[in-house]
This record gives sequence, C-alpha cells and structure tokens, in this order.
Amino acid sequence: MRASVNGWGIAAPEKRVTNADLEQRVDTSDAWIVERTGIRERRVAAPDETTATLATEAGTAAIKHAGIPPDAIDLLIIATATPEQPVPHTGAFVGERLGLRCGSFDLSAGCAGFVYTLVAGSSLLTTGNLDHVLVVGAEILSRVIDPDDRSTCVLFGDGAAAAVLSRSPDDGPGVLAWDLGCDGSLAGLLEIRAGGSRLPATPETIAAGEQYLKMQGQEVFRRAVRAVVDSARMTLDRAGVTPSDVAWFVPHQANIRIIDSAATRLGIANERTIVNIDRYGNTSAASIPLALAEAADDGRVREGDLVLLSGFGAGMTWASALLRWGKA
Ligand code: ACO
Repeated sequence: MRASVNGWGIAAPEKRVTNADLEQRVDTSDAWIVERTGIRERRVAAPDETTATLATEAGTAAIKHAGIPPDAIDLLIIATATPEQPVPHTGAFVGERLGLRCGSFDLSAGCAGFVYTLVAGSSLLTTGNLDHVLVVGAEILSRVIDPDDRSTCVLFGDGAAAAVLSRSPDDGPGVLAWDLGCDGSLAGLLEIRAGGSRLPATPETIAAGEQYLKMQGQEVFRRAVRAVVDSARMTLDRAGVTPSDVAWFVPHQANIRIIDSAATRLGIANERTIVNIDRYGNTSAASIPLALAEAADDGRVREGDLVLLSGFGAGMTWASALLRWGKA
C-alpha cells in the first residue's frame, strides 16, 4: 500500500505587505530584498487569524477537494513552528473546528516540517491501515518576528496549506521514497530562545526581545544548499531514479538564491522548479505545500509526474520526499 495526495487546499491571509511597505518601517529597500532574496511581497495575518484558523481553512479546502466527508479523516498532523499556544497542541483546535475526534498531534521540524508530516502521515496510513490522513503546514510567523529587525522581518510571511493522504495500491501514486535528518549542533543558528522550559518568558526576556526569532542568516544559507542537495540526492537514490526523471522540484521557499543554487547542483532546470517566494516570502512549514498546491491547481503538476519536495529549517532539520503525483 502507498499513500497518495488525494486533495489539497491553501489558506493565504488577504493582507499583502510589499517591500515598499517595509521601506517605510525599517532601513531596507525593495532592490536589496528582491536581489538578495527574490521576495516582493508576503501575506500577513489579520488580528483575528491564528495558526489554527489558517490550518482549518486549508484543511477544509483539502477535504472538500478530496471529495470525502470530514469524519473520514483518521489522523490529523499539523506541522508548525508557531503553534496556537504552548498547550494544548494546535491539532486540538483544528480538529475541533473540523468536527474531528480522530488522533491528532503537532510536529515541530521548522521549515522542513511539512515534509516530515508527509512522511509520518503516509507511514502511519500504511502501517495502521488508515483510509485518510490530513497533513497541514501552518504558520503565523509575523507574531514571532521582531518588526524592527530588518534581517528577519523582510523574509517571513504567514499562510497554510494542507493535503489529504489516502490509500493507494502498491504500484499506484504516492510517496515513493524519503529522507529526514537533523544536525542539532546547529540549533543556535535559528531560534526563539524564550518561552520554553529552559528560559520561560519573563519581563526580562521580553525586554531583551527573546520572544522573537533570531537567525544567523549567512550560516543558515551556507548549509542550506548542501542539506537540500544531499537529502534530495539520497531520496532519488532510494527510489532508483535520477534528477532527469523528476518532472517538478518543489523546494522550501526561503531564498531564491538557495533555490537556484540547489536546483543547479541537482541538475534540475529552472523551468522544472516551482517558485512562489516572490508572492509569499518564507512561510516555513507552509512553504512547500503552498508551492505544491498552487502548481497542482494551475495544472503544472500532472497525474503521473515525479515530484521532488525538499526543505531545511530550524534544528537544523532537512527533509525530502519523492511523490508519484495522482489520485488513488
Ligand atoms: N535590507 C537592507 N540591508 C540588509 C537587510 C535588509 N533587509 N538585512 C540585512 N542587511 C544588510 C546587513 O546588515 C549587511 O550589512 P553590512 O554588510 O553593513 O553588515 C548586508 O545587508 C549583508 O548582509 P548578509 O547577511 O551578508 O546578506 P546575505 O546576502 O547573506 O542575505 C539573508 C541575508 C537574506 C538573510 C540570507 O542570509 C538568507 O536568506 N539566509 C537563509 C535564511 C533561511 O533560509 N532561513 C531558513 C529559515 S528556516 C525556518 O525554519 C524558519
């Protein structure tokens, strides 16, 4: 048995913040942001939107697209680095809004989170003999970004995207191979220091801005290309295919220079690489499914295509999966 993507959906907050808007707030320029990152605008959640509301909107769309009733979902997994609240997990709120009583859990693996949920969801579906698993990547990064820190506030955006995984035959469409990894010696490169057990939030941590995401951008950049390329190659090897067999490469949308450089090293042409960073920025766990869902909706990704997903993120994690696209 395999697990194939039988439905998908996205949730993008209406508010767009352009580079010109950011020029009014911090010492930056549209030219710098576009040249260094490829980002032109990003979505920012309204005050009444939360990670759970976005995840619910994307999940509802994915369930409808799959053509199943919500109660046919047997398991819900939410990938997020910006959970609804510390306890309980975001899946509790999303499951309630969707009317589910199945098991749910959150998965924290930074920007690689969605690919982790795809691997966990498809594995639990096949070993647990489940019919449908809903996997969601959802983030409201605007609430953990220091609005005055130009090195991060220009990069990130909000959004969510979801996929319904369903049973598919042994030789049918679905997840063919994957690779997951994490090098915890690099944990300090990208972190929110306060708010956990090591450093609970206090007036002092807040005064020091330790509730905000801090990133050593250049160091992350240096390692990201290698992580993506090595993980993608490992995944292709495990499936017994080569880069030329891949119809579409869907990388994590962190920086256009990382995407271009990874694609070039893999030998995958620009025309076969899905990019939407210009319109969304880096939406962390939502970035890969957002890009994939858009490409499936506009007909670029088609039945039978081999689709390679690859991401990296806080941890430092990396994750790749190779999918044979198509409904079971
Ligand atoms: N506008 C103008 N100038 C800026 C800005 C800005 N928004 N941000 C930084 N600069 C300045 C810096 O201060 C620096 O100035 P200096 O030379 O006077 O010190 C100069 O621009 C160059 O800075 P660099 O850090 O060298 O710029 P770089 O080309 O490396 O780009 C960037 C920075 C875009 C952050 C890049 O390093 C990057 O994309 N890194 C990877 C980020 C990433 O992928 N994160 C993954 C997130 S994963 C997750 O789980 C959330």
